[in-house]
Amino acid sequence: MAHYAHPMASSNSSDSSASAEVPAPYGSGPGTPAAAPVPAPGERKPAKVRIHHLQQAKRDGTKFAMLTAYEQYTAEIFDAAGIEVLLVGDSASNNVFGNETSLPVTVDELLPLCRAVARSAKRALVVADLPFGSYEVSAEQAVGAGVRFLKEGLAHAVKIEGGKYYAPTVRAMVQAGIPVMAHIGFTPQSEHALGGYRVQGRGDDAQRLIDDAVALADAGAFCVLMEMVPAETAAAVDAAVSVPTVGIGAGKATTGQVLVWQDMAGLRGGRMAKFVKQYADLRSTLLDAATAYGEDVRSGQFPGQEHTF
Ligand code: KIV
Repeated sequence: MAHYAHPMASSNSSDSSASAEVPAPYGSGPGTPAAAPVPAPGERKPAKVRIHHLQQAKRDGTKFAMLTAYEQYTAEIFDAAGIEVLLVGDSASNNVFGNETSLPVTVDELLPLCRAVARSAKRALVVADLPFGSYEVSAEQAVGAGVRFLKEGLAHAVKIEGGKYYAPTVRAMVQAGIPVMAHIGFTPQSEHALGGYRVQGRGDDAQRLIDDAVALADAGAFCVLMEMVPAETAAAVDAAVSVPTVGIGAGKATTGQVLVWQDMAGLRGGRMAKFVKQYADLRSTLLDAATAYGEDVRSGQFPGQEHTF
């Protein structure tokens, strides 16, 4: 997707819901950036990515990108790179907090990360994962957790894992004013129930995912994310719902794609899943930098005269 001619431009949209945004009526708060210069026609990007822009992308047949982010600098950088959606994933559990799975991370651990990302991203839509144990018990519990992520975490939307069983939960959250992204297919919080990392929706199981997606979209989910689903099944799911879809290991047919940023940028070591494409080797870059720094300190090369008061 060309960054200079963004397909999610809010100009000349046929969708009335994607019409120009009016200024906030009650003052815009201290963090609001100054007005940007008016771009040339065809170069317009929404000042802020909203849910209706993602929905417009689905209608237009264009794509959007999503990455995880868990703190200030990556949020700033990915936002500046034009990534449309930042996910404060519960994958922070194994990519920030050092756990083996996403299960142990808590709402109280994710909230400060979410706040940092939301404060740092000027344009991207910030979606927060509801972690395991924060929404399964009841719709009331889910609404409570969702409210915390929007109110204390400053997220714009939340994501929950699970199929059509969660449709009433999604409906309750949406009615409470909490935009919900649904996550189906392989759902890492159910790793133990699913018997490990396994592709979901193969063969006859495809219909289950279609039913899940339709039920969740009907309940008001603004987007359906699919993880580790055969491309053919993901395409059928995408065709079955009018809301945008996002894939991770789900082929090309989805409206958006998401990756965990440490995988995308090569920070994490070890074996990568088949669906990961690495765009950098940050692990080697940081290893080289830290090694050089350590050697300079030990040899007395650092600090030099130029670093000394
Ligand atoms: O938490 C996460 O990073 C996710 C992605 C795998 C989609 O849910």
